[in-house]
Amino acid sequence: MAYETIIVEVSDHIATIKLNRPDALNALNSQLLSELSEALKDADSNDKVRCIILTGSQKAFAAGADIREMSEKTFVEAFLGDFFTAEHDAVAKTRKPVIAAVAGYALGGGCELAMLCDFIIAADSAKFGQPEINLGVVAGIGGTQRLTRFVGKSKSMDMHLTGRFMDAEEAERAGLVSRVVPAKALMEEATAAAEKIAEKSLLVTMVVKEAVNRAYETTLSEGLTFERRMFHALFATEDQKEGMSAFLEKRSPQFRDR
Ligand code: HXC
Repeated sequence: MAYETIIVEVSDHIATIKLNRPDALNALNSQLLSELSEALKDADSNDKVRCIILTGSQKAFAAGADIREMSEKTFVEAFLGDFFTAEHDAVAKTRKPVIAAVAGYALGGGCELAMLCDFIIAADSAKFGQPEINLGVVAGIGGTQRLTRFVGKSKSMDMHLTGRFMDAEEAERAGLVSRVVPAKALMEEATAAAEKIAEKSLLVTMVVKEAVNRAYETTLSEGLTFERRMFHALFATEDQKEGMSAFLEKRSPQFRDR
């Protein structure tokens, strides 16, 4: 499919989706979000793809929802149109691992989009923020909930109430991003991480994703039960036999996603 606001490349089991509205710092308009949903669904169902990278430009991952597009919306339009809910769900429902590679601004909906991914690798130029309060609104695709789970109440309140930006170093300290790398090396590092993931059993990477996400969605005992069931269940797979035999035979495993 031909996209206008994103660029999709699939190579070596990795789908890289680049947000591409440079004139608006990759502001998320409905066209971009609908193309992104489509590309994620495609990557999720493409047998060749084993890991997905979502990225923007050096200046901006995404500077938020498109203010020009939404400024004249009425409550009725936002409510009846279920503003961004379908797009949000499409990202959240992607079953294969999604890495956010963030350089420059990740603000408002851009920060929320990065948090919807499975983990964030940040360039040292990255700036995260939830400045919706300056526009007379609040975050709308999970910012108040997800940022609070990442960085705790105090810092989340600070970010949402003052609208200030957090640099990459603070974001790493606070647990929002998994690592910070020099801006020039961002895609190299993200691709290397995706390649590592692509070598594993896809079956297991999808189980890991479901299990870690349980930590945010249920009680500890429910989450532990889910993890234990999945751990037991994986003994029914060929990949468990292969992984453990390979270790004992001192060779690299050849996983077949079975
Ligand atoms: C539409 C945007 C935009 C946005 C930037 N642009 N952010 N257009 N929506 N969110 C456009 C600018 O209008 C400008 O277009 C061009 O991109 C370059 O931006 P500048 O402001 O000139 O760049 P700079 O001075 O470097 O400042 C960068 C910035 C600033 C700090 C990121 O652009 C900014 O504050 N942007 C808004 C950030 C924000 O408030 N995000 C939250 C949005 S609300 P022109 O045509 O003038 O060159 C949100 C809610 C989510 O995300 C809820 C989901 C339902």
